[in-house]
Amino acid sequence: MIQVRNLTKRYGSLLAVDNISFDVERGGVVGFLGPNGAGKTTTLRILSCYHPATSGSASVAGFDVFKNSMEVRRRVGYLPESTPLYSEMRVREYLNFRGKLRGMSHPQRVDAIRRVTDRCWLGEFVDRPIGQLSKGMRQRVGLADAIMHDPEVLILDEPTIGLDPTQIRETRNLIKELGERHTVLLSSHILSEVEQTCDRTIIIAAGRIVASGSPQDLRNRFSTQARVVAEVRGPQQEVESGARGLPGVQKVESSSNNGWVRVAVDAKPDLDVREDLYRLTAAKGWTLRELRREGATLEDFFVQVTAEQQKQRTK
Ligand SMILES: Nc1ncnc2c1ncn2[C@@H]1O[C@H](COP(=O)(O)OP(=O)(O)O)[C@@H](O)[C@H]1O
Ligand SMILES: [Mg+2]
Repeated sequence: MIQVRNLTKRYGSLLAVDNISFDVERGGVVGFLGPNGAGKTTTLRILSCYHPATSGSASVAGFDVFKNSMEVRRRVGYLPESTPLYSEMRVREYLNFRGKLRGMSHPQRVDAIRRVTDRCWLGEFVDRPIGQLSKGMRQRVGLADAIMHDPEVLILDEPTIGLDPTQIRETRNLIKELGERHTVLLSSHILSEVEQTCDRTIIIAAGRIVASGSPQDLRNRFSTQARVVAEVRGPQQEVESGARGLPGVQKVESSSNNGWVRVAVDAKPDLDVREDLYRLTAAKGWTLRELRREGATLEDFFVQVTAEQQKQRTK
């Protein structure tokens, strides 16, 4: 549904998007995840024909964003990072105005307004001036506008930024619902958001794609470096140095609480030290009450890959 090939965008000497390529299949919600300044907004603006790329190509719904921008605009609903809404207009007036800009007829507009206000839970607010609405409600107006022409693709730039927790939850649910009918590409710098809303994630850092896959794929790829955590009743120093002496162990951290020592053991990738650790405690006569492999979180992965990329850029 979206194809990006070797896309590059320069602002003067700054390389905001550096030769990226990716595909988005039809249907579902794809997260475009990266820290601030990664190049998310720049990429999404190119895909919605809001500004040109320096080089490379991109197509949306089968049309080239540079050569066929009118066709692309017809098939894409775009929610910019900050929605420019007219605060003195009422919701219905605004949507009507936007529909006119898109060349929709009067009956089409009446129909579309009913459909989108219903879908974005705006029913009771349609006759309120936009300026009187909360930020969350205004975001819904932006979404309603983006889906008015029933586009195949929805491009949402940080759709929950600045919302309170309740509004965030509502907006996420709405996006998931929209993902059942549209192909949604949304950007975010918040990992948990992408984890909760998206079927697939593309991670971008310093203008480059550093990883992509389902949240589960990404977690699996990282979990070869999982650590083992144990809780042992024994002398802290000895427990720590005993763990450090096991084959393949690279790092040991310990803390103690009420006579229980908690050790976190990082070993070489693909090595599971649980068995050795168990033998150690048994041989020493220490009591072992917990021994588990701690799965790396997606957050660890995100922090690691984006930090590596950032370092390379500044080299
Ligand atoms: N219009 C612009 N002129 C110059 N630099 C820009 C412009 N827009 C964005 N940038 C720079 O490009 C980089 C990527 O920005 P952006 O795409 O907004 O990232 P993100 O949305 O991931 O935070 C940043 O370093 C930003 O400062
Ligand atoms: Mg941005």
